[in-house]
Amino acid sequence: MESFRLTKKEMQELSEKYPTPFVVISLAQVKKNYDFLKRNMPRVNVYYAMKANPAPRIVTALAERGASFDTASAGEIETLARMGLPGTRMIYANPVKTSQGLAASAQFGVRRFTFDDKSEIPKMAAAVPGAEVLVRVRVKNQRALVDLNAKFGAEPEAAVPLLLAAKEAGLHPVGVCFHVGSQSLSTEAYEDALALMRKIFDEALAAGLSLSLLDIGGGFPIPTADGTRPDVGALMRTIEQQLDRLFPQVEIWAEPGRYLCGTAVNLVTSIIGEKERGGQSWYILDEGLYGTFSGAIFDHWTFDFIAFKPGRRRKVTLVGPSCDSIDFVRRDILLPKLAVGDKLLVPDCGAYTTASATTFNGFALATEIYWEDEQTKRCASYKMVSA
Ligand SMILES: Cc1ncc(COP(=O)(O)O)c(C=O)c1O
Repeated sequence: MESFRLTKKEMQELSEKYPTPFVVISLAQVKKNYDFLKRNMPRVNVYYAMKANPAPRIVTALAERGASFDTASAGEIETLARMGLPGTRMIYANPVKTSQGLAASAQFGVRRFTFDDKSEIPKMAAAVPGAEVLVRVRVKNQRALVDLNAKFGAEPEAAVPLLLAAKEAGLHPVGVCFHVGSQSLSTEAYEDALALMRKIFDEALAAGLSLSLLDIGGGFPIPTADGTRPDVGALMRTIEQQLDRLFPQVEIWAEPGRYLCGTAVNLVTSIIGEKERGGQSWYILDEGLYGTFSGAIFDHWTFDFIAFKPGRRRKVTLVGPSCDSIDFVRRDILLPKLAVGDKLLVPDCGAYTTASATTFNGFALATEIYWEDEQTKRCASYKMVSA
């Protein structure tokens, strides 16, 4: 699956119009990613994990395509409600819910929740009586960049007792969910998780609970700076085959975040300073760890940098503009000789980047530009010239 990638010329033209740092978002790529997923996993209902990138136009593009939404907080529920999305197109998928999140659920008609502990049951039952609940089960995966199972998921043997306790409290236990961890490079992790979920479905049936919903979470990977190009199509087709084999009659949901938006965004950043340290060139960028590159910390992500410049490549260090010494964006990356004013393109940076960026030290957030708007403007000016 191809990523959205600006050419050198496109990057230069945009840099003449907009001060860096800016991110360029391709809504066409977001839609392409969604369509690719639906083609390869036709049974899956998509609940976009908007935490990955809550840009309103990404959300709207996916909503228009038919997606629903995984929400984590009152803020996300309220944002979607303000955009006109009904609660029936949302799941509140944070296993631990705040009173504000539950109140927003009650207000906007969000009636589906995930949970992984008995302490959540009275909270959900009081706020939204009769809500449909899925128990989140802990699964194993050594090959995920972000191990969500370190913090979330009930032990598999606790799943059915939790669902029974939810029923006892007047909730509707409808299913099971899991998350193999974000940026998962393991197909086996999904296969193992699906086999485990089948076992839990069977145990539930034996205990008198007929479950109808399986949520397979997110985790679908995107290309990385080391050149890894995961075959996400093959991964999805394998999952779909397993779903047909193990869950032929069950409603299936997924909560992809990174996969839908990650490859749809490019950042353009400028070199604003240069120094020699320890025999190496350090380049100071106008974007750093407190901005779009926040994903280097929170998401464990390694960003790729394209210089569009010839010359022998040697190891350099890239740092951000803040006054904090944590602000090392990449050490020992191979790049040609650069100079103040040069631009660098950062591909595949749409997930867990702008979403967690701050204005620390007073540096503004990177401007968001939509590639489709640029195309429209280009067409309009072409028409004016040729008229
Ligand atoms: C509950 C839940 N669902 C979905 C996602 C999205 O995962 P990914 O971006 O790996 O697809 C996350 C990520 O943290 C999550 O916590």
